[in-house]
Amino acid sequence: MPPCLVLISAGLCLWPGFAHADGDAQAGAQVFKKCGGCHTASEPANRVGPSLMGVVGRPVAIFAGYGYSDAMKAFGADGKVWDENLLGEYLLSPKTMVTGTKMSFPGLKKLQDIENVIAYLKIMATK
Ligand code: HEC
Repeated sequence: MPPCLVLISAGLCLWPGFAHADGDAQAGAQVFKKCGGCHTASEPANRVGPSLMGVVGRPVAIFAGYGYSDAMKAFGADGKVWDENLLGEYLLSPKTMVTGTKMSFPGLKKLQDIENVIAYLKIMATK
């Protein structure tokens, strides 16, 4: 295991740079099934969680009509944007990054799944 991954499991490592990640959107559509109970990315509709249509590049906690937790609102209060790095870190362990979030999803363990689901979310921005 590369040293950075060891540090991630210890929660100490910053995401090692997703900006150039090249995920597979088709594989990501399969991974997204884990999110699909709570989110849609194909319509601007809120379910248990906010719509993820166009989430890559969108500021945190701004989707219209969705009642975000105070934790998520506070996390986005300084104008953070869901870029690939931030999403990657969040999806690895949502509650570690946003303590108190009401997204009750433990996170994706495989880095490849994270890259792929981000690639999927990117193409869903334009559909
Ligand atoms: C059990 C339901 C559930 C599952 C499964 C789930 N989420 Fe969420 N998600 C939520 C909820 C609820 C929120 C709102 C969190 C808050 O306000 O604290 C959220 C928020 C988010 C946000 C922040 C959106 C914004 O507008 O700021 C992202 C990004 C996100 N989820 C991505 C995902 C992805 C990708 C997956 C699958 C790998 C996933 N979620 C799985 C319930 C879920």
